[in-house]
Amino acid sequence: MEKKIRQLRQELKAHNHKYYIENAPEISDAQFDRLLAELAELEAAHPQFDDPNSPTHRVGSDLSNAFETVKHRLPMLSLANTYSIGEVGEFVRRVEGEVGEVEYVCELKFDGTAISLRYSRGELVRAVTRGDGVQGDDVTENVKTIHAVPLRLAGEGFPAKGGWPAEFEIRGEIIMPFAAFERLNTERMDAGEMPFANPRNAAAGSLKLQDSRVVARRGLDNFMYGLAGENLPFATHWESLEAARGWGFQVSNLMRRCYSLEEIEAYVAEIDELRRGLPYATDGMVIKVNSLSVQKRLGATAKSPRWAVAYKFAAESALTRLLSVEFSVGRTGAVTPVANLEPVVLAGTVVKRASMHNADQIALLDVRVGDAVWVEKGGEIIPKITGVELSERPAESKPIEFPTVCPACGAELVRYEGEARHFCPNQNHCPPQITGRIAHFVSRKAMDIEGLGEETIGLLYAQGLLDDVADLYSLQIDDIAPLPRLGEKSAENIVEGVRASVEVPFARVLYALGIRFVGETTAKYLAAHFRGLDALAAAGEEELAQVEEVGAKIAVSIREYFENTENQGIIERLKEAGVQFEAAERVLVSDVLAGKNIVISGSFEGHSRDELKEMIELNGGKNQSAVAANTDYLLAGKKIGPAKLAKARKLGVPIIGEEEFITIVTKKDKIPTQGTLF
Ligand code: IVH
Repeated sequence: MEKKIRQLRQELKAHNHKYYIENAPEISDAQFDRLLAELAELEAAHPQFDDPNSPTHRVGSDLSNAFETVKHRLPMLSLANTYSIGEVGEFVRRVEGEVGEVEYVCELKFDGTAISLRYSRGELVRAVTRGDGVQGDDVTENVKTIHAVPLRLAGEGFPAKGGWPAEFEIRGEIIMPFAAFERLNTERMDAGEMPFANPRNAAAGSLKLQDSRVVARRGLDNFMYGLAGENLPFATHWESLEAARGWGFQVSNLMRRCYSLEEIEAYVAEIDELRRGLPYATDGMVIKVNSLSVQKRLGATAKSPRWAVAYKFAAESALTRLLSVEFSVGRTGAVTPVANLEPVVLAGTVVKRASMHNADQIALLDVRVGDAVWVEKGGEIIPKITGVELSERPAESKPIEFPTVCPACGAELVRYEGEARHFCPNQNHCPPQITGRIAHFVSRKAMDIEGLGEETIGLLYAQGLLDDVADLYSLQIDDIAPLPRLGEKSAENIVEGVRASVEVPFARVLYALGIRFVGETTAKYLAAHFRGLDALAAAGEEELAQVEEVGAKIAVSIREYFENTENQGIIERLKEAGVQFEAAERVLVSDVLAGKNIVISGSFEGHSRDELKEMIELNGGKNQSAVAANTDYLLAGKKIGPAKLAKARKLGVPIIGEEEFITIVTKKDKIPTQGTLF
């Protein structure tokens, strides 16, 4: 029994690490809770094996080394989870058994990452992650980039009616809406990076980034769900949230006061339907006792308050059989295990394949071919295997062996430091990497050469006609026409498409080269900065890292790309073919500011004035030196000249701040007609 307990502890610790540190959970919360409950039961039955460091004594931690650690004034507890209305009923009966009939508030359980904000005299002074519940990471600079978080509160301080306390903490959830999540993952996949598994991991990962300018572009959002503090000037939780809304916090409208289990049940059912149309992820509801004094009477256990409970919506999962595992090699050389499943209907679609991420995950799940496996689809794009039904394991099953050599070219696989994935290092001679790079090169956002699907590329490669992207420019109609399913007309179209691609602007050519981590936007900034390939190829890492969007990792990748002699040869041949390696007159990142005259005044926190000026031009706008009747915006920083401000006000010119400006140029949203700063 001791062995079983130790094994469960180890398993849970590994899952905690995956969840809190790597932001890449491999089992669902429900499965985690089941394992934890199993361990708690065994520990209770065998107290002689107790261990103060058992996962049952901890709630996990998201602490990382890079941020200052701050102790929470009041611990950040977690919620007891329930998975059925029956269990919610048990909670209601327990509460009412202790304190009599009470009022409840039912709220959404946002699926993001918890944050505690401290305000002093109406100003945001600190934002701290939950960490281990006792202390968390100071991520203030990153949180300041989130628009839904007020930096200065609206209205007056207490004792004004409904005013904010001079010092208080408010807690809530940082989330990444689906739209931002999808945009981020598309960018990551374009750049050959692993997509985030779900919006929760993406939100948590973004909050821990070192560069708050990158965080600002991630489209994070926030909902607040509770004031923390002793002696708050409110009688109920509801009242406190309504007041917080008035101070400028984003508080959900989807909350309801309920007076019985029946009302709670009805609201839960209503939300379970409605939540499918929400633009952000929710994984359940939270039911809280409304009265703050009753909350105090009910108190808390070491881990969770006794006045609240979470009801988790059922994750959409299905049981099916694992038929086989394929190891596919992508254009970056990453080897991904892909499960072939017996087709099963999940969340309305037939699922035949599921991601298994990497070797660690296969080992953790101990999944074998022939196993009955649970497949889940949460906020994720690709379904994943979350567990194995061991009771149904066929007797002869054997563990899945992760290949040691590339399944496509036989090269020995490598695993880079800090990477969970295996890579085939044989970049220039591994067939799927070559054809993957060619497919990327011809794709719509790159060189936009039509008629060259993966299959045709594969055929041309197999015929020895296409070994790298430069070979495209020597293809002849007679080479292509005889291939199966092609013919004269298709061949003509392909050759014409290749010929026309020499007009594709430099920024897209740069993206098309498929340099690791260089996505579409990064390529545009690089093109705007260096204006030509020779200057880019000659740049050192330091100069590269000065470019918007380029960090140290990308800089290394660019340098390595240009140092590779085979890449140099390909570029020479592309140049000979007439591909654009110089930027045209003006490189635009977007035209979101087209026709807009903008005046910059004051000093800014995240960017220098020159950087802002460059951004205006790159997005199609014009820098103006003085406010005039035709000025469209005044971009105002700190210590803005009072004369400029007065003139803008007089002329009714909208005044926008740095954050708002960055949102406009990064989200490429419609331009507001009203400034929101003053
Ligand atoms: S109240 C004392 N309300 O769920 C517990 N939590 O384990 C206070 N969460 O990480 C939490 N939506 O960040 C509360 N409406 C809501 C919530 C919520 C999401 C998260 C919270 C925490 C986890 C609870």
